[in-house]
Amino acid sequence: MQKTATAAEAAQRKMPDPVAIAIARDAQGKYNPITLTWFMQASLDPPMMAIAIGKARHSLAAIRASGAFVLSFPSAAMGPDASFFGMTSGRDTDKLSRQGTPTQPAAKIDGVLLTGAVANYECRLTGEMEAGDHVILLGEVVAAHVNEHAALGRLFALGENRMGGVLPA
Ligand SMILES: Cc1cc2nc3c(=O)[nH]c(=O)nc-3n(C[C@H](O)[C@H](O)[C@H](O)COP(=O)(O)O)c2cc1C
Repeated sequence: MQKTATAAEAAQRKMPDPVAIAIARDAQGKYNPITLTWFMQASLDPPMMAIAIGKARHSLAAIRASGAFVLSFPSAAMGPDASFFGMTSGRDTDKLSRQGTPTQPAAKIDGVLLTGAVANYECRLTGEMEAGDHVILLGEVVAAHVNEHAALGRLFALGENRMGGVLPA
């Protein structure tokens, strides 16, 4: 039997949610990471990714201004980074430097990849749609990268601000 709940209560039941980190160059020239759980693959051919970004986020202005973003899938060990990127705004903080997160240059866009992630997509912004208090940004994947270590676990949000890793079977 189902019982009536709020949408927020129902959302807690769908955990664990895979975590992603989007990185974009901001107006100050620094690469700013934001932790996300609202993202999806939106097209196979061409490959496209969609992310939902809150209207008040520093990242929204950064992605719109640069016209590109990296979508990175953090490994199980990257919980502290994802936590910090998801609790702190890049408006006044250089989050990547503060955490000492290893990065490497993107190949096709002005961006950086997260070296420890299981995979990184380089995306060019192709469109956006307002969705209540968020904006859905659509990016075409112009390059993809995977970690040379295939057996790294993925990072998941467990609900109530907790995150944990899940290792591949
Ligand atoms: C597990 C987790 C998931 C999150 N998912 C999203 C999301 O999908 N969209 C979003 O706009 N913010 C999300 N946030 C909140 C942002 O990461 C957070 O507000 C961040 O500090 C914004 O950084 P910015 O101001 O530098 O863009 C999430 C935070 C956490 C911890």
